[in-house]
Amino acid sequence: MRRFEGKNVLVTGGSTGIGRATAIRFADEGANVAINYYASETEAEITLEEARKTCSIIRGKGCGEMLVQGDVAHEEDVKRIFREVLGAWGRLDILVNNAGVQIASPAHETDMDAYDRVLAVNLRGAFLCAREAVRHFLDRGGGGVVLNTTSVHETIPKPYYAPYVASKAGLAALSRTLALEYAGQGIRVNTVAPGAIATPMNREWMDDPARRAEVEKHIPVGRAGLPEEVAAVFAFLASDEAAYITGQTLYVDGGLTLYPDFRVPWSSGS
Ligand code: NAI
Repeated sequence: MRRFEGKNVLVTGGSTGIGRATAIRFADEGANVAINYYASETEAEITLEEARKTCSIIRGKGCGEMLVQGDVAHEEDVKRIFREVLGAWGRLDILVNNAGVQIASPAHETDMDAYDRVLAVNLRGAFLCAREAVRHFLDRGGGGVVLNTTSVHETIPKPYYAPYVASKAGLAALSRTLALEYAGQGIRVNTVAPGAIATPMNREWMDDPARRAEVEKHIPVGRAGLPEEVAAVFAFLASDEAAYITGQTLYVDGGLTLYPDFRVPWSSGS
């Protein structure tokens, strides 16, 4: 399928994991893809290297690509990211808000700088990018697509991850509100909520067979998801096949939101 021939897509945090797979998937279907990447000083080389590799894969598919550095939590960075993309291509069709961070800490010990950072990247960052995209869609007319990345933890509580859960629940609410606000202008806003996906964010358990088996025991389909399986859903939601879908969350979670503890009827006599 070449559903995005001639379309321009921006993926935030697009150099690794789900973002990287999504950037490649859009290119597989003919889109030009701008990859936003960001890293702290110490990680910069690694992230940039990953981003460059992703770009060369996209180039290999005959699509346009560009790299745009920037911290989505910073308004000036986000404005510059959009200036660079629109300056080069003149038009954006699809924004994928994928950048995200998490920290683990008991709520009562959570440092407020860490709390603020998680909210700033996951919620403020997604809003800033969505706002710039919507401004552009309204200016040029003809609508557009905003896709946000939450998590099964937009609904399932997750002890030790209070700021992350708050950011993702907030982003789900934000998505629905933007969807309603701009539906009349042809702008669709939807959300993808991944479960446990094998990406760098889950390095801790992914590469340890015993820990991975423990994680996978909780997933009804019996395995972690692949970034490509999430990317396929972003592509569907961005495509015209989803033209009548807005304001929805699509869970890509192998059944994690199905209350897996109820696989056996422990709550009633049998
Ligand atoms: P990842 O760590 O590979 O991807 C996150 C990306 O965001 C990285 O490329 C990182 O450099 C970038 N990023 C971080 N802060 C940024 C900032 N301030 N500005 C721009 N980019 C920034 O992990 P993964 O798993 O690919 O995560 C992608 C999204 O999926 C995140 O929003 C995450 O919360 C979400 N998610 C992931 C799940 C998983 O199991 N892997 C489950 C549920 C949601």
